Amino acid sequence: MNAAIGLDFGTTNSAIAWVVDAGDPILAHFDAGAGPTDTFRSVLYFDQGEDGQDPLTTTAGPFAISRYLNAEEKNGRLIQSLKSFLASRLFHATSIYGRMYRLEELIAIILRDLKAAAEAELGYEIDKVVVGRPVRFVHAQDASDAELALKRLLAGLHNAGFREIEFEYEPVGAAYHYESDLDHDELILIADFGGGTSDFSLLHVGPSYRDGRRGGSANEHRRDSILGHDGVPIAGDCFDGKLIRHLVTPLLGRGAQFRSQFGNPLEVPSFIYNRLERWHHLSVLKSPKMMNLLIELQREAYEPERLAALIHLVRNDLGFLLFRAVEKTKRELSDGFSSRLRFAHQDLEIDVSVTRAQFESWIAEEISAIEQCVDGLLERSGFATRDVDFVFLTGGSSFVPAVRHVFEERFGADRMRFGGELTSVANGLALRAQEGAAAKRART
Ligand SMILES: Nc1ncnc2c1ncn2[C@@H]1O[C@H](COP(=O)(O)OP(=O)(O)OP(=O)(O)O)[C@@H](O)[C@H]1O
Ligand SMILES: [Mg+2]
Repeated sequence: MNAAIGLDFGTTNSAIAWVVDAGDPILAHFDAGAGPTDTFRSVLYFDQGEDGQDPLTTTAGPFAISRYLNAEEKNGRLIQSLKSFLASRLFHATSIYGRMYRLEELIAIILRDLKAAAEAELGYEIDKVVVGRPVRFVHAQDASDAELALKRLLAGLHNAGFREIEFEYEPVGAAYHYESDLDHDELILIADFGGGTSDFSLLHVGPSYRDGRRGGSANEHRRDSILGHDGVPIAGDCFDGKLIRHLVTPLLGRGAQFRSQFGNPLEVPSFIYNRLERWHHLSVLKSPKMMNLLIELQREAYEPERLAALIHLVRNDLGFLLFRAVEKTKRELSDGFSSRLRFAHQDLEIDVSVTRAQFESWIAEEISAIEQCVDGLLERSGFATRDVDFVFLTGGSSFVPAVRHVFEERFGADRMRFGGELTSVANGLALRAQEGAAAKRART
């Protein structure tokens, strides 16, 4: 019997899971040499080869990261957070070592590897899949942008070899995961905090809604179970960006001055540092035009060493390593009240301390946008916080204490549930795929 497949293509981490018969979901495994994992970093690495003449090699996920880390010269291109460009009308294609790649092609490389890993474990080819989608895509201003994002995602999936594709909201996927061991019905608010987006669904879950899956009959209850969705394009990548802005960019010349051609002091343009806050934009800084500008600024800067540090970072493609250090600091601020950001490469050394209180003041605007989104969803759906039985927090950024606090304040700690941070969506989408297949069988 064919398995029902769920695929979570995440901004930071992807995963693929399947359900056979009415069993529990099983996650595909990936092993790049450091032991098997059930999540696949959504990154790509383009390697030009030793002498720059060899054919281009592309690797994805943990394999891409280990290849990047093992490369002596950091001159390959590591690309991350591709999902965040799906709704962007400014991004169509990018040139990598002289070859143009469309966004759909880049995404397909990641999806193909996920598919292959699942197929290797299942022992047969997959053509049908339920795929998660955020409620609101990053960069989507209106419905037509969301349509564009879905069209591109669909093209990426087709390119990767999937033939029958159904989309489902990611928090609904997480709801199926949450529901799988419930023995009573609940009104649940799902809150999924990822790398690119924070997504919310308000819905009824439990045995009365789940019976369709186990019993094999079509379940009309599902249709009426969903009360509302909303989302914001704010999550872990934004939090990283804030740490970069406040901890790193001042050391690299933000706010520094240089002598203009008329001899008067001017501030180094801030757009350079805005780019730095998104590490996938770092490679833009490496263009010959930008490098010339940076060198010119360094020559005229009153504190040239700060610009020299920035040039070193850009020239050596250290974006991934810097962001890895920043992410480590962010995680430590989830567990403790202070941390240090340490980063060293040749002569470039960063060592700064940071408290959780500072971090929380830097992300206050983002937290407030999350609050407004949650309050708005409840209001539009006609429910008060007291009507909600539980809140299920999932996704990697749900570890951030300020994020948890939003829900503690509204619902109280005893109505909060957590779990499956990196895998709940893939597992739940597989359950959702299984339910759909069972309902279809019952109809025919
Ligand atoms: N302990 C932690 N504290 C703070 N942030 C964390 C922690 N662990 C993971 N994260 C963050 O969680 C994010 C990744 O979460 P997740 O894998 O759920 O996202 P995703 O599914 O790839 O993204 P999206 O759902 O937005 O497409 C990253 O930004 C990561 O830095
Ligand atoms: Mg996610």
